[in-house]
Amino acid sequence: MSGSLKLLLVLGAAFVVAMDAVAQEVELDAFTGLRMSGDWQLVRNNCIACHSPKLITQQRGSEAQWLNMIRWMQKKQNLWQFDPDTESKIIAYLAQNYPPQADRRRATIPPDLMPPNPYAPPTGQPD
Ligand code: HEC
Repeated sequence: MSGSLKLLLVLGAAFVVAMDAVAQEVELDAFTGLRMSGDWQLVRNNCIACHSPKLITQQRGSEAQWLNMIRWMQKKQNLWQFDPDTESKIIAYLAQNYPPQADRRRATIPPDLMPPNPYAPPTGQPD
């Protein structure tokens, strides 16, 4: 095979790989930075009133971990209750678009393995 034909084939293959990557790329919403797929607008409508959307997009978690974060915000941060349908759509979107990744932050430590918090208010409740 001639040298230039080989080069052409290599370039062609590289082009196919590059186009594939472009096709899989999900567009980001210019305002929130959220991945614009599925029910992303539910998350935009419910999740950015109190804090930067970056808190969401930099976070990773399984469905259970996202649900835990939502329950924590509902208990401690005045996050409102969702109807079950909305909640499961939000959780599914988050776990699909921001799933756990090996090179991201570690999993949270279960509360029963944490030392006592010396600054906790005297409610007698765990944090
Ligand atoms: C009513 C206010 C409010 C709303 C609405 C809200 N949050 Fe939060 N959230 C908070 C507060 C307060 C914090 C703590 C912020 C801090 O630590 O600076 C927080 C923290 C977070 C964190 C960081 C958690 C961590 O462990 O670091 C994530 C992720 C998050 N929120 C996601 C969401 C998602 C997803 C939604 C929508 C389902 C949402 N938030 C809606 C109040 C809210």
